[in-house]
Amino acid sequence: MLFYHEKDKKMIFETHAHYNDRKFDEDRDKLLATLPEAGIGRVVNISASWKDLLNTLQLIEKYPYFYGAVGLHPDHIGDLTEERFQMIRDYCRLEKVVAVGEIGLDYHWDVEPRETQKEGFIRQLKLSIEENLPVVIHSRDAVKDTFDIMKGEHAGTTGGIIHCFSASKEIAKEYVKLGYYIGVGGVVTFKNSRVLKEVVESTPLEAIVVETDCPYLAPVPYRGKRNSSLYLPLIIEKIAEIKGCSPEKVEEVTWENACRVYRLPV
Ligand code: NI
Repeated sequence: MLFYHEKDKKMIFETHAHYNDRKFDEDRDKLLATLPEAGIGRVVNISASWKDLLNTLQLIEKYPYFYGAVGLHPDHIGDLTEERFQMIRDYCRLEKVVAVGEIGLDYHWDVEPRETQKEGFIRQLKLSIEENLPVVIHSRDAVKDTFDIMKGEHAGTTGGIIHCFSASKEIAKEYVKLGYYIGVGGVVTFKNSRVLKEVVESTPLEAIVVETDCPYLAPVPYRGKRNSSLYLPLIIEKIAEIKGCSPEKVEEVTWENACRVYRLPV
């Protein structure tokens, strides 16, 4: 299959990947080396657990086109000791660390008690403001608490991305008003993703960024398989179809958006 992209290679910004995942152990270096040639100009690798965070720091040192987000996912908030919190603060000051994340609330799996999740989320939001870095938000089945905490903690000060956006178009509008970008990934290509398609339709392209969340959430026709940034053109094509514009336009505007939110030169 030929992606639109292969005809006229430009630049795609992968805003959310987990290349530290063990699903990439067998071919990580080989795969990552092919990304620039495939038009994937920049990748932000996102931490979830403490181990991921340390691996993210290695990846950004190894690959010039890699940047990192440091923070602990709600499922791993139990990893947050006092010593580690201070280490995360130090890592925030590294040149290629561009965000705090992914942080937030996950009431779907409820791996950690909700009170612990909230405490960890608030602490890391405060940190992002102190260190002046945008945040990458994970929110699952926790729409109201996530939004209330973010508003309460003035999360609009730094801005950021609502990763793998799964709420309504009304909530998307509120987040955009707060200065946030809507992260759109493989789910937009799924047949049953009516609500997300509505979100894409009603949200200005200037407030959308593309992501894979790889190795998870591969777009159609690779649904269920291992995902990678190489499939981003499929997501871009779907957004273009919904928006009624060219994929090249989506690629260009989402590149600029991602540079703006992560504060990198265009
Ligand atoms: Ni993720």
